[in-house]
Amino acid sequence: MNESSHNRFVILGPPGAGKGTQGKILAETLGLRHIASGDLVRQHQANETTLGIASQTYYSMGLLVPDVITFQIVLPEVLKAADGFLLDGFPRNIHQAERLDQELKLKNLQVDLTLLITAPEEEIMHRLANRRVCPTCKRVYHKQSAAPVVDNVCDNCQVPLLQRKDDTLDAIKIRMEEYHAQTLPLAQYYRSQNKLMEVSGLGEVQDVLHRILGCLQEYQPSETFANGPGAQQPNLSLSFKKRPV
Ligand code: AP5
Repeated sequence: MNESSHNRFVILGPPGAGKGTQGKILAETLGLRHIASGDLVRQHQANETTLGIASQTYYSMGLLVPDVITFQIVLPEVLKAADGFLLDGFPRNIHQAERLDQELKLKNLQVDLTLLITAPEEEIMHRLANRRVCPTCKRVYHKQSAAPVVDNVCDNCQVPLLQRKDDTLDAIKIRMEEYHAQTLPLAQYYRSQNKLMEVSGLGEVQDVLHRILGCLQEYQPSETFANGPGAQQPNLSLSFKKRPV
């Protein structure tokens, strides 16, 4: 692995901006491991681990899980994939970002680039209220923009889709407050290190993806696309349905 290449990415953005949707495709494209802290928290909850149980109340209310729990859930996964990762949902506050920097520094590594995906509140509400998730394969749907073939049934597993516990109106409001108070300051943290790219999350999934890939290419044309283990061409064939106007 060429350590001068850019293999350690962080995606920031408000709830529902499309971090998970874009993160999954980008990680595949760049050959990096997609580490979504929310997925890890939900996995611990599903497995009823001590950490999962301890995180439940915070999660359901839309609050950030305390750092002491989050670090135990997320950091081992990050450090296992330190050669090439795309972090989605972590770090989520300055303390987490500083801890991540310290851990990477011990390996002579650093966060190379941060992507901030933005979206207006009205769009966020529309996306989160209509998001549905397969309880088995965890595939994420949207009732309009990424609808399953059969209403409310997973295309892969044929089981009924569910709404996330934190996609209630009350929890979304708190998640937005948490984002503004705790996570948005990270934009300045990374901007001051000249590591922040900002991209609008509006438009269809493919359009947002092209926008991000265009920015990445401007940032680092030759290296960014070549170095991740097993990098692939962007998967633009996903059949996202156009949202009715
Ligand atoms: P987490 O799971 O990270 O939730 P989030 O940050 O609120 O983000 P979301 O998953 O809601 O949205 P997204 O941006 O990934 O959007 P998506 O692509 O799904 O965290 C949940 C909780 O876990 C936290 O509140 C906290 O309690 C805890 N937690 C996690 N990490 C933590 C940490 N580091 N520290 C402390 N606590 C932590 O898209 C949303 C919907 O829109 C989908 O239906 C999708 O199909 C659709 N969609 C996506 N893109 C488009 C598009 N371009 N057009 C139309 N629809 C679209």
